[in-house]
Amino acid sequence: MKAGRTLLVGLALTLSHDAWAATPMSYLRTFGPAGYPVTRLGWGLGIISVSVVVIVGLLLLGGIFRRRGPRRLSDPNALAVRRDAGGMAWIYIGVGISSLVLIGAMIWTLVVTAVVAHPSSRPALTVQVSASQWWWALRYDTEQPSRTFTSANEIHIPVGQPVRFEVTSTDVIHSFWVPKLGGKIDVIPGQTNVTWLQADQPGVYRGQCAVFCGTEHARMALQVIAQSPADFRAWQESQLADAPRPATPEQQHGTRVFQSHCAACHTIRGSNAGGLVGPDLSHLMSRRTLAAGVLSNTPGNLAGWIVHPQSVKPGSRMPDQTLSGPQLAALMAYLQTLH
Ligand code: HEC
Repeated sequence: MKAGRTLLVGLALTLSHDAWAATPMSYLRTFGPAGYPVTRLGWGLGIISVSVVVIVGLLLLGGIFRRRGPRRLSDPNALAVRRDAGGMAWIYIGVGISSLVLIGAMIWTLVVTAVVAHPSSRPALTVQVSASQWWWALRYDTEQPSRTFTSANEIHIPVGQPVRFEVTSTDVIHSFWVPKLGGKIDVIPGQTNVTWLQADQPGVYRGQCAVFCGTEHARMALQVIAQSPADFRAWQESQLADAPRPATPEQQHGTRVFQSHCAACHTIRGSNAGGLVGPDLSHLMSRRTLAAGVLSNTPGNLAGWIVHPQSVKPGSRMPDQTLSGPQLAALMAYLQTLH
């Protein structure tokens, strides 16, 4: 009785909203049309598979424990060979039912594959995702080239609208996966693969590189931030703007430190920094996380990352930086203006 109640409470917790929120990589419940049919298929095939195991198990137990009549052998040394009539029917029925279920599952799978291949309406927005060890570069394309901009690791999308993703890699094979929104797609150097996602509820959906891509593979996360169309447009406008110019002498000192230490690898639009090795930092402060989801974006974490990225993400393509105290303070003052 007690065990049953514990099981029920466990199940209720598993299905509760908080529990779903606490499992950011769960694919058992999805939040957009690129995921719904796949989730239903997953549950359906899971239930069919478990049912097959249970039915076969029960039949096996029945076969083992079925009472047989007493042996009547005239010669006690003779082999107990009996011609059992009727057993073949089980084989015919069993094979027949299994074949029907397997053919049904195959047709269902093919239909789901076809349904999720394309969104029901043409996506208004395309995000080009370029994966590198171990972060994601983003480029937002619209029909007006003047409204194209770049960012990193955090993908904002408008709720309720399909968004097209064109994914490629600059180095090794990665895999782009946002479990709560839809299936994963391989990210292959020299090739552009296309997929789409749509979020039906506002929220933050965690994604992850899903194929081993080197030492920091596990720390190559991304976030999809689904916003109301109005909030998304506001965010888009803020990203389109160039970074603000440094206003105070300390911030100006920070720009110079950035030019000498960081600009070869990082871009800040509106300044002379145009490096492409690392993430675009034009609106760094508008991001929730640093280094592909590894740290939350607080001043302490930012300073720690800048000075010692190799202790946070060993092997990362950003080398540790040797900066004096005043240089770091000036750099921090400048970076914190990048909203
Ligand atoms: C040799 C190239 C290189 C140099 C020099 C460099 N970085 Fe980086 N930086 C990178 C790369 C690559 C990443 C991505 C690391 C990752 O997430 O794995 C990165 C990530 C970052 C991030 C995290 C951005 C985000 O949105 O996640 C910040 C902030 C940053 N660098 C600041 C700086 C500053 C400030 C300097 C100069 C003091 C600097 N970097 C120098 C290559 C460089």
